[in-house]
Amino acid sequence: MGKIFEMTHPLILHKLTYIRDENTGNKNFRELVEEVSMLMAYEATRDLELIECEVKTPVAKTKSKVLAGKKLGIVPILRAGLGMVEGIIKIVPHAKVGHIGLYRDPETLKPVSYYCKLPIDISEREIIVVDPMLATGGSAVAAIRKIEEHNPKGIKLMILIAAPEGIAEVQKECPDVDIYVAAIDEKLNDHGYIVPGLGDAGDRLFGTK
Ligand code: PRP
Ligand code: URA
Repeated sequence: MGKIFEMTHPLILHKLTYIRDENTGNKNFRELVEEVSMLMAYEATRDLELIECEVKTPVAKTKSKVLAGKKLGIVPILRAGLGMVEGIIKIVPHAKVGHIGLYRDPETLKPVSYYCKLPIDISEREIIVVDPMLATGGSAVAAIRKIEEHNPKGIKLMILIAAPEGIAEVQKECPDVDIYVAAIDEKLNDHGYIVPGLGDAGDRLFGTK
């Protein structure tokens, strides 16, 4: 079963409070999501492989380390996952970015797929799927299944706020996928929204409500 890495860093938890706050406007919300995503990327890249190399400083030659081979692919689930990409590629600037378009049907809560474009060399990359919200888990599972068809080296899932229902669904359907999550909330409400959550992540990022 995939592991769960729940964030404990004070900066992440502090910023998450302001992301949740209904008084935080679109501009600050976007900036905070970007900052938290960057901090979470630091945690989610701890196990990247390194190789030895040699570097010449102005003073002497020395042994050092660089990342091994092809590195990362970031795949946001549209729309709201887009808000996490800039923060992540600030610290892994050579990552390739794919996109998966899914929206949740408001009646059935099932994901509806409308777009998929993934890095051409995906089989040589570790993929981090990003989305601020993991509610029923339907969207994340659909995105992971789509990516699995293209045989990446591995898949991780990075989420800001998850419901226990979504975590259980991903663990059941995608047992090889580790989940990096800033907070695991209490439950889903009758409309499939995370309680207490942050509301609709896409609307808060892009000002569409
Ligand atoms: C939100 C969110 C996730 C999904 C989570 O997207 O960004 O993708 O819901 O719900 P689930 O775990 O129950 O599938 P939404 O469908 O609202 O689309 P949007 O990002 O385009 O607003
Ligand atoms: N999608 C959101 O944007 N928020 C939720 O709470 C659940 C799904």
